[in-house]
Amino acid sequence: MSASIPKQSTPRRLLRTIGASEGPAIRDWLFVRLGTGGGDAGGLIGCALAKGSAMDRRQLILGMGGLVALGACRAADGKPRQSAARADLYRCEGCEGVFERQPTASSARIAPPGEPGEPLVLAGTVIALDGRVAAGVTIYAYHTNSAGFYANGTPETEWSRRHGRLRGWAKTGADGRYRFETIKPAPYPDRSLPAHVHLTVLEPGRRPYWIDDIVFDDDALVDAAYRRRMENRGGDGIVRLAREPDGRLLAVRDILLERHPA
Ligand SMILES: [Fe+2]
Repeated sequence: MSASIPKQSTPRRLLRTIGASEGPAIRDWLFVRLGTGGGDAGGLIGCALAKGSAMDRRQLILGMGGLVALGACRAADGKPRQSAARADLYRCEGCEGVFERQPTASSARIAPPGEPGEPLVLAGTVIALDGRVAAGVTIYAYHTNSAGFYANGTPETEWSRRHGRLRGWAKTGADGRYRFETIKPAPYPDRSLPAHVHLTVLEPGRRPYWIDDIVFDDDALVDAAYRRRMENRGGDGIVRLAREPDGRLLAVRDILLERHPA
Protein backbone atom coordinates (compact mmCIF):
# COMPACT_ATOMS: atom_id res chain seq x y z
CA MET A 1 0.00 0.00 0.00
CA SER A 2 1.28 3.41 -0.88
CA ALA A 3 2.39 5.67 1.92
CA SER A 4 0.05 8.31 0.48
CA ILE A 5 -2.98 6.59 2.08
CA PRO A 6 -2.66 6.70 5.90
CA LYS A 7 -3.24 3.35 7.61
CA GLN A 8 -5.83 4.86 9.94
CA SER A 9 -7.72 6.58 7.18
CA THR A 10 -11.45 6.09 6.76
CA PRO A 11 -13.56 6.22 3.61
CA ARG A 12 -14.75 9.70 4.61
CA ARG A 13 -11.23 10.96 5.14
CA LEU A 14 -10.16 9.26 1.98
CA LEU A 15 -12.78 11.14 0.01
CA ARG A 16 -11.21 14.38 1.12
CA THR A 17 -7.71 13.40 0.15
CA ILE A 18 -8.24 11.41 -3.00
CA GLY A 19 -6.19 12.21 -6.07
CA ALA A 20 -5.83 10.83 -9.57
CA SER A 21 -2.40 9.38 -8.89
CA GLU A 22 -3.64 7.42 -5.91
CA GLY A 23 -5.86 4.96 -7.73
CA PRO A 24 -3.76 1.81 -7.12
CA ALA A 25 -3.13 2.78 -3.49
CA ILE A 26 -6.85 3.26 -2.90
CA ARG A 27 -7.63 -0.06 -4.49
CA ASP A 28 -5.17 -1.81 -2.15
CA TRP A 29 -6.46 0.15 0.83
CA LEU A 30 -10.01 -0.99 0.10
CA PHE A 31 -8.85 -4.55 -0.40
CA VAL A 32 -7.23 -4.61 3.01
CA ARG A 33 -10.18 -2.95 4.74
CA LEU A 34 -13.09 -4.66 2.99
CA GLY A 35 -11.74 -7.89 1.57
CA THR A 36 -12.11 -9.09 -1.99
CA GLY A 37 -15.34 -7.22 -2.63
CA GLY A 38 -13.66 -4.06 -1.47
CA GLY A 39 -10.77 -4.83 -3.73
CA ASP A 40 -13.09 -5.21 -6.69
CA ALA A 41 -14.92 -2.00 -5.88
CA GLY A 42 -11.57 -0.38 -5.32
CA GLY A 43 -10.41 -1.79 -8.61
CA LEU A 44 -13.14 0.10 -10.39
CA ILE A 45 -12.33 3.28 -8.55
CA GLY A 46 -8.62 2.78 -8.96
CA CYS A 47 -8.92 2.12 -12.65
CA ALA A 48 -11.00 5.23 -13.18
CA LEU A 49 -8.68 7.41 -11.15
CA ALA A 50 -5.54 5.96 -12.62
CA LYS A 51 -6.93 6.74 -16.07
CA GLY A 52 -7.79 10.25 -15.01
CA SER A 53 -11.41 9.76 -15.94
CA ALA A 54 -14.14 11.72 -14.27
CA MET A 55 -15.58 10.11 -11.15
CA ASP A 56 -17.57 12.31 -8.88
CA ARG A 57 -18.03 11.89 -5.15
CA ARG A 58 -21.35 10.09 -5.50
CA GLN A 59 -19.88 7.49 -7.85
CA LEU A 60 -17.01 7.03 -5.44
CA ILE A 61 -19.36 6.38 -2.56
CA LEU A 62 -21.31 3.89 -4.65
CA GLY A 63 -18.10 2.11 -5.50
CA MET A 64 -17.06 1.94 -1.88
CA GLY A 65 -20.46 0.58 -0.96
CA GLY A 66 -19.87 -2.36 -3.23
CA LEU A 67 -22.76 -1.39 -5.52
CA VAL A 68 -20.66 -1.97 -8.58
CA ALA A 69 -20.47 -5.27 -10.37
CA LEU A 70 -17.77 -7.37 -8.79
CA GLY A 71 -14.70 -7.68 -10.91
CA ALA A 72 -15.81 -5.01 -13.32
CA CYS A 73 -13.15 -2.52 -14.24
CA ARG A 74 -14.62 -0.51 -17.01
CA ALA A 75 -12.58 1.36 -19.52
CA ALA A 76 -13.36 4.87 -20.67
CA ASP A 77 -15.38 3.40 -23.51
CA GLY A 78 -17.57 1.54 -21.02
CA LYS A 79 -16.50 -1.93 -22.07
CA PRO A 80 -16.52 -4.23 -19.04
CA ARG A 81 -13.59 -6.28 -17.96
CA GLN A 82 -13.77 -9.75 -19.42
CA SER A 83 -15.74 -12.01 -17.08
CA ALA A 84 -14.45 -15.27 -18.60
CA ALA A 85 -11.15 -16.30 -20.07
CA ARG A 86 -10.80 -15.59 -23.76
CA ALA A 87 -10.56 -18.84 -25.68
CA ASP A 88 -7.91 -17.32 -27.92
CA LEU A 89 -5.89 -15.69 -25.16
CA TYR A 90 -2.68 -17.47 -26.15
CA ARG A 91 -3.17 -17.16 -29.90
CA CYS A 92 -0.39 -14.80 -30.55
CA GLU A 93 2.16 -14.15 -33.27
CA GLY A 94 5.36 -12.73 -31.93
CA CYS A 95 4.65 -13.03 -28.22
CA GLU A 96 7.78 -15.18 -28.04
CA GLY A 97 9.68 -11.92 -28.11
CA VAL A 98 8.87 -11.47 -24.44
CA PHE A 99 11.31 -14.29 -23.61
CA GLU A 100 14.28 -12.69 -25.32
CA ARG A 101 15.28 -10.75 -22.21
CA GLN A 102 14.83 -11.37 -18.51
CA PRO A 103 14.40 -7.86 -17.15
CA THR A 104 14.78 -7.13 -13.48
CA ALA A 105 13.96 -3.42 -13.61
CA SER A 106 10.53 -1.85 -13.91
CA SER A 107 11.91 0.90 -16.12
CA ALA A 108 13.62 0.48 -19.47
CA ARG A 109 14.57 2.43 -22.53
CA ILE A 110 13.21 1.52 -25.97
CA ALA A 111 14.54 4.27 -28.24
CA PRO A 112 18.13 5.31 -27.57
CA PRO A 113 18.99 8.94 -26.88
CA GLY A 114 19.07 10.86 -30.12
CA GLU A 115 16.49 8.66 -31.85
CA PRO A 116 14.52 10.83 -34.30
CA GLY A 117 11.02 11.54 -33.04
CA GLU A 118 9.26 13.21 -30.16
CA PRO A 119 10.36 11.85 -26.76
CA LEU A 120 7.64 9.84 -25.07
CA VAL A 121 7.28 8.12 -21.71
CA LEU A 122 5.01 5.07 -21.57
CA ALA A 123 3.99 4.16 -18.06
CA GLY A 124 1.28 2.41 -16.12
CA THR A 125 0.26 0.05 -13.40
CA VAL A 126 -0.48 -3.63 -13.86
CA ILE A 127 -3.61 -4.70 -12.00
CA ALA A 128 -4.51 -8.29 -11.15
CA LEU A 129 -8.00 -9.79 -11.30
CA ASP A 130 -8.51 -9.18 -7.59
CA GLY A 131 -7.86 -5.48 -8.08
CA ARG A 132 -4.46 -5.47 -6.47
CA VAL A 133 -1.32 -4.31 -8.18
CA ALA A 134 0.65 -7.13 -9.80
CA ALA A 135 4.36 -7.59 -9.21
CA GLY A 136 6.75 -9.66 -11.31
CA VAL A 137 4.92 -9.15 -14.60
CA THR A 138 7.17 -8.78 -17.65
CA ILE A 139 6.02 -6.41 -20.35
CA TYR A 140 7.49 -6.50 -23.83
CA ALA A 141 6.83 -3.39 -25.91
CA TYR A 142 7.80 -2.57 -29.48
CA HIS A 143 6.77 0.02 -32.00
CA THR A 144 7.60 1.70 -35.30
CA ASN A 145 10.10 4.48 -35.68
CA SER A 146 9.27 8.09 -36.51
CA ALA A 147 8.84 7.12 -40.17
CA GLY A 148 6.39 4.32 -39.44
CA PHE A 149 8.73 1.37 -40.00
CA TYR A 150 9.88 -1.55 -37.85
CA ALA A 151 13.37 -0.80 -39.02
CA ASN A 152 16.92 -1.89 -38.30
CA GLY A 153 16.09 -5.17 -36.66
CA THR A 154 18.93 -7.47 -35.74
CA PRO A 155 19.40 -11.05 -36.99
CA GLU A 156 19.36 -12.95 -33.67
CA THR A 157 15.75 -14.07 -33.79
CA GLU A 158 12.71 -13.85 -36.02
CA TRP A 159 11.23 -11.22 -33.74
CA SER A 160 14.39 -9.17 -33.42
CA ARG A 161 14.21 -8.89 -37.22
CA ARG A 162 10.49 -8.37 -37.64
CA HIS A 163 9.84 -6.08 -34.67
CA GLY A 164 12.69 -3.76 -35.53
CA ARG A 165 15.12 -2.06 -33.22
CA LEU A 166 12.66 -0.17 -31.01
CA ARG A 167 11.88 -2.83 -28.41
CA GLY A 168 11.96 -2.91 -24.62
CA TRP A 169 11.36 -5.19 -21.66
CA ALA A 170 10.37 -4.22 -18.13
CA LYS A 171 9.26 -6.16 -15.07
CA THR A 172 6.89 -4.70 -12.52
CA GLY A 173 8.08 -4.29 -8.97
CA ALA A 174 6.05 -4.42 -5.76
CA ASP A 175 4.06 -1.34 -6.81
CA GLY A 176 2.97 -2.98 -10.07
CA ARG A 177 4.32 -0.13 -12.14
CA TYR A 178 6.27 -0.15 -15.38
CA ARG A 179 7.83 2.58 -17.45
CA PHE A 180 9.45 2.88 -20.87
CA GLU A 181 11.35 5.83 -22.27
CA THR A 182 11.10 6.04 -26.01
CA ILE A 183 9.81 8.20 -28.87
CA LYS A 184 6.31 8.57 -30.22
CA PRO A 185 5.88 6.09 -33.08
CA ALA A 186 4.41 7.09 -36.42
CA PRO A 187 1.59 5.30 -38.26
CA TYR A 188 2.57 2.91 -41.04
CA PRO A 189 3.38 4.90 -44.21
CA ASP A 190 0.15 3.68 -45.82
CA ARG A 191 -1.76 4.96 -42.77
CA SER A 192 -3.66 1.70 -42.53
CA LEU A 193 -3.39 1.83 -38.73
CA PRO A 194 -2.94 4.60 -36.21
CA ALA A 195 0.40 5.04 -34.49
CA HIS A 196 0.59 2.25 -31.96
CA VAL A 197 2.74 0.38 -29.47
CA HIS A 198 2.45 -3.39 -29.25
CA LEU A 199 2.43 -4.91 -25.78
CA THR A 200 2.91 -8.50 -24.66
CA VAL A 201 2.36 -9.51 -21.05
CA LEU A 202 4.03 -12.40 -19.22
CA GLU A 203 2.79 -13.21 -15.74
CA PRO A 204 4.91 -15.46 -13.52
CA GLY A 205 4.32 -19.11 -14.36
CA ARG A 206 1.91 -18.33 -17.20
CA ARG A 207 1.96 -18.23 -20.97
CA PRO A 208 2.31 -14.81 -22.59
CA TYR A 209 -0.49 -12.99 -24.34
CA TRP A 210 -0.93 -9.77 -26.26
CA ILE A 211 -3.15 -6.93 -25.13
CA ASP A 212 -4.71 -4.00 -26.96
CA ASP A 213 -2.10 -1.75 -28.51
CA ILE A 214 -1.46 1.64 -27.07
CA VAL A 215 -2.95 4.20 -29.47
CA PHE A 216 -3.43 7.91 -29.00
CA ASP A 217 -6.84 9.44 -28.48
CA ASP A 218 -6.04 12.51 -30.60
CA ASP A 219 -4.90 10.44 -33.58
CA ALA A 220 -7.30 10.99 -36.49
CA LEU A 221 -6.92 7.31 -37.37
CA VAL A 222 -8.37 6.33 -33.98
CA ASP A 223 -11.82 6.82 -35.43
CA ALA A 224 -15.16 5.31 -34.52
CA ALA A 225 -14.54 2.19 -36.59
CA TYR A 226 -11.17 1.62 -34.98
CA ARG A 227 -12.59 2.10 -31.50
CA ARG A 228 -15.32 -0.43 -32.20
CA ARG A 229 -12.73 -3.00 -33.25
CA MET A 230 -10.70 -2.70 -30.07
CA GLU A 231 -11.12 -5.79 -27.93
CA ASN A 232 -10.26 -4.24 -24.58
CA ARG A 233 -7.64 -6.89 -23.98
CA GLY A 234 -5.76 -5.95 -20.89
CA GLY A 235 -8.03 -2.94 -20.52
CA ASP A 236 -8.38 0.13 -22.67
CA GLY A 237 -5.43 0.87 -24.94
CA ILE A 238 -6.55 4.34 -25.99
CA VAL A 239 -4.54 6.91 -24.07
CA ARG A 240 -4.76 10.66 -23.79
CA LEU A 241 -1.32 12.15 -23.99
CA ALA A 242 -0.12 14.36 -21.16
CA ARG A 243 3.23 15.94 -20.39
CA GLU A 244 5.94 15.03 -17.95
CA PRO A 245 7.27 17.95 -15.86
CA ASP A 246 10.26 18.08 -18.22
CA GLY A 247 7.99 18.48 -21.23
CA ARG A 248 8.17 14.96 -22.63
CA LEU A 249 4.95 13.36 -23.78
CA LEU A 250 3.45 10.97 -21.26
CA ALA A 251 1.16 8.06 -22.14
CA VAL A 252 -0.35 6.20 -19.20
CA ARG A 253 -1.60 2.73 -20.12
CA ASP A 254 -2.70 0.68 -17.14
CA ILE A 255 -2.92 -3.05 -17.75
CA LEU A 256 -5.73 -5.21 -16.39
CA LEU A 257 -4.49 -8.77 -16.38
CA GLU A 258 -6.65 -11.21 -18.28
CA ARG A 259 -8.28 -14.36 -16.95
CA HIS A 260 -6.42 -17.48 -18.03
CA PRO A 261 -8.12 -20.52 -19.52
CA ALA A 262 -8.37 -23.40 -17.06
FE1 LIG B 1 2.22 -2.80 -35.64
